[in-house]
Amino acid sequence: MKRAADAPVIAVKNLAKRFKLRQSWLKRDKLVVRAVDDVSFEIAAGSTMALVGESGCGKSTTAKLILQLVKPDSGEIYLNGEPVSEATPQLRQKVQMVFQDPYASLTPHFRIESILREPLVVHRICPPNEMRDRIGASITAVGLPVDVMSRYPHELSGGQRQRIGIARAISVNPELIICDEPVSALDVSIRSQIINLLLDLQQSHNLAFLFISHDLDLVAHVSDFVAVMYLGKIVEQAATEKFFAGPRHPYSRALLASSLVPDPKKRIQFAPLSGEVASPTELPTGCSFRTRCPLAIDKCARVEPPLQAIGEGHLSACHRAGELVSSEMLTDPSAPQSAINPQPERI
Ligand SMILES: Nc1ncnc2c1ncn2[C@@H]1O[C@H](COP(=O)(O)OP(=O)(O)O)[C@@H](O)[C@H]1O
Ligand code: SF4
Ligand SMILES: [Mg+2]
Repeated sequence: MKRAADAPVIAVKNLAKRFKLRQSWLKRDKLVVRAVDDVSFEIAAGSTMALVGESGCGKSTTAKLILQLVKPDSGEIYLNGEPVSEATPQLRQKVQMVFQDPYASLTPHFRIESILREPLVVHRICPPNEMRDRIGASITAVGLPVDVMSRYPHELSGGQRQRIGIARAISVNPELIICDEPVSALDVSIRSQIINLLLDLQQSHNLAFLFISHDLDLVAHVSDFVAVMYLGKIVEQAATEKFFAGPRHPYSRALLASSLVPDPKKRIQFAPLSGEVASPTELPTGCSFRTRCPLAIDKCARVEPPLQAIGEGHLSACHRAGELVSSEMLTDPSAPQSAINPQPERI
């Protein structure tokens, strides 16, 4: 597909999805979950945007909306500048997904060769007589021996299965890969190998990545941009370097304060997260984070803070973002620059 001049690979604008839940068989009124609300971002070829936030904040629903596995209630999606409103073959090919649980995402009673053959057939990637070579090349590209072709998923380790998941994604020449917690189900010892593989493939194929994760250390390492979600909304968005140098939303700071940064000099001084997330079916008035926010003021209960620019390319949805200057919250002002890698490097 030809990309409109300078168009990002993917752009979403004001994306929204609400789910209606039946309360019980007796009650007719339905509860509404605001899963994704007014979410906008774009990702250029070769760059990575991380979507972070606690479980249930709407990360996976955002991914499903892009893939058209779930229909948005409103908002727009553009693939290479062209509007997308249904799951066209082009969308299915150009946007691929790497899942958290590689075992669940591979059909157990199919051999690896069949698993990798299917997308090639569906997307007519090559003639039948070239399929086997193409499958072998994908397997080699993810660092596995070609003989895994004849094995079943249960005969592979977790890391090998995730490599097959990645091989399946890249085999159809995608432009965007959505990685939904791609290493959180894997042993710590092999996580960095899989991350390095993804970074290598991104570079060699100039791929855009939407990287969903709750691991901020990892996000600092792999992403170019960060968007923090809370109860369906993006509450902070910035280039990774800027974000880690001075997060400008209390929720982002609390997430960072709670993350396991081994070096105390790089730790954020802020009250770690406490309390429960508000019920997504009964959101508080004003700011959704106010029930847990140590900085909440009266206005926060009355007025919902809009997501607005607080610096170049830096957005925050907090009435007090202007007071959250970086020098207040870092033990060592020189730390953030060394805490992140502007250019992702192998780990
Ligand atoms: N199919 C669905 N039906 C009803 N509610 C859903 C559905 N999918 C997700 N949700 C709800 O939407 C919210 C966001 O879910 P999800 O996108 O899976 O969050 P995350 O991936 O950040 O953990 C949660 O409250 C979840 O319970
Ligand atoms: S708007 Fe108020 S409650 Fe919300 S994050 Fe900012 S200070 Fe906290
Ligand atoms: Mg999820």
